[in-house]
Amino acid sequence: MTNEQYYTLIQPYTDAMNLILTRLDVLNHQAGEHEQSRPIHSITNRIKEKNSIENKLRKKHSDLSVNSARTLLKDIAGIRVICFFERDIRLLAGCLKKQTDLIVISEKDYIKNPKPNGYRSFHLIIGVPIYHLEGMEYYPVEIQFRTISMDFWAAMEHRICYKNQPFNEMEMRSAFLQYSDILEKMEKSFEVYSENAIEQPT
Ligand code: GTP
Ligand code: MG
Repeated sequence: MTNEQYYTLIQPYTDAMNLILTRLDVLNHQAGEHEQSRPIHSITNRIKEKNSIENKLRKKHSDLSVNSARTLLKDIAGIRVICFFERDIRLLAGCLKKQTDLIVISEKDYIKNPKPNGYRSFHLIIGVPIYHLEGMEYYPVEIQFRTISMDFWAAMEHRICYKNQPFNEMEMRSAFLQYSDILEKMEKSFEVYSENAIEQPT
């Protein structure tokens, strides 16, 4: 894939990602009148770099063409939505799924069913209609919904475990699993406190 082909490839994915970012922004404002009651803590987004696209295609034993990237990769456009509580994730994901021009390509609920290592997150791949001069095509955007504590755990796990072979692997794996559980409990109790909190007049 040449640089020029790469830039042509990512353009509609960038447009699709920007559309979803705007939709999330609108939902965030609608859900809470004040900064204090809004569901989103922060959002990050990225377009997969040329190198990462090619590495992932290699892993899938595919050729490195633009066509293969379009058919095989669903995470060229990626958004990470960090919320305060699980209920915020359910609200936002539910609202996005109900928007009638979008399609749900896939959904993985690692909150209901955490991965064996303790990873928790809600993954949604949404198809966004992009209108060309002639016709329309859906472009996938991967959205990872996490709470602050899920994101904290995942960032640490990525930093410490990914591509590393630590000498005390067994001990570390069991620690990560245990921390995932502790963080979930902390978060649930914060959620209960926040439900019981009485809003102060400003
Ligand atoms: P990828 O090939 O990595 O895209 O995984 P997949 O096609 O099996 O999809 P999945 O929805 O399981 O994971 C997509 C993304 O979620 C990954 O690229 C990571 O960003 C994140 N993720 C999934 N599992 C883990 C994990 O165990 N630890 C961390 N830190 N991140 C994870
Ligand atoms: Mg990925």
